[in-house]
Amino acid sequence: MSLTFTFDPPVTPALRDGILDLWTDVSNAGGAVGFVAPVERETVRPELVRHFVAMAEGRTRLLVGHDGEGRVAAAVFLSLNSHRLMTHWLWLYTVMVHPRHQGKGYGRDLLGAAADAARGIDGIEAIRLTCRGGLGLERFYGSCGYKEVGRVPGAIRVAPGDDRDDVIMLLPLG
Ligand SMILES: CC(C)(COP(=O)(O)OP(=O)(O)OC[C@H]1O[C@@H](n2cnc3c(N)ncnc32)[C@H](O)[C@@H]1OP(=O)(O)O)[C@@H](O)C(=O)NCCC(=O)NCCS
Repeated sequence: MSLTFTFDPPVTPALRDGILDLWTDVSNAGGAVGFVAPVERETVRPELVRHFVAMAEGRTRLLVGHDGEGRVAAAVFLSLNSHRLMTHWLWLYTVMVHPRHQGKGYGRDLLGAAADAARGIDGIEAIRLTCRGGLGLERFYGSCGYKEVGRVPGAIRVAPGDDRDDVIMLLPLG
């Protein structure tokens, strides 16, 4: 069984609700996607709306993976740079696979599909992302071909007294 990936899907209420559930469930399972558990769907919603606005303005693209039952099972946002000297690479944000599907290789499939999508965008030569240190995520991204190119010590405060490194990962699209 594998996921079916769609790049730039039409934003329907079903897609919106599916991503909202995915993002909330991933966060509440301890995922490092911008929130700290426990988080409510309504806390995530404004962040998702910001991404939809960026998509409508052409600054951000969305890649989603649906499972065999038609549920949103994975998603990632691809964000283009507005800086005129940095238009040859893009950012990946909120790489996430639903907790019920983690550990089956879908995360690697998602990043493979994201690299293919990025290659299809005119002028894009590399993908950059940041991840929260201390969760082993560098190993996950490493298994997808990314290299650690920098690390800002303690930049992410997940709780008072619990600061994590902000790790910068890069994938040149050869
Ligand atoms: C991180 C995430 C996207 C990985 O997706 P996944 O489908 O579970 O991962 P895969 O099954 O494709 O794993 C691919 C490889 O990475 C490893 N891996 C996956 N998650 C890992 C983690 N958190 N720490 C260390 N290694 C990890 C797997 O063991 C596997 O390695 P192998 O090939 O040697 O067996 C997923 O677990 C997730 O959504 N996590 C919560 C959200 C999150 O934190 N996202 C990161 C934002 S920076």
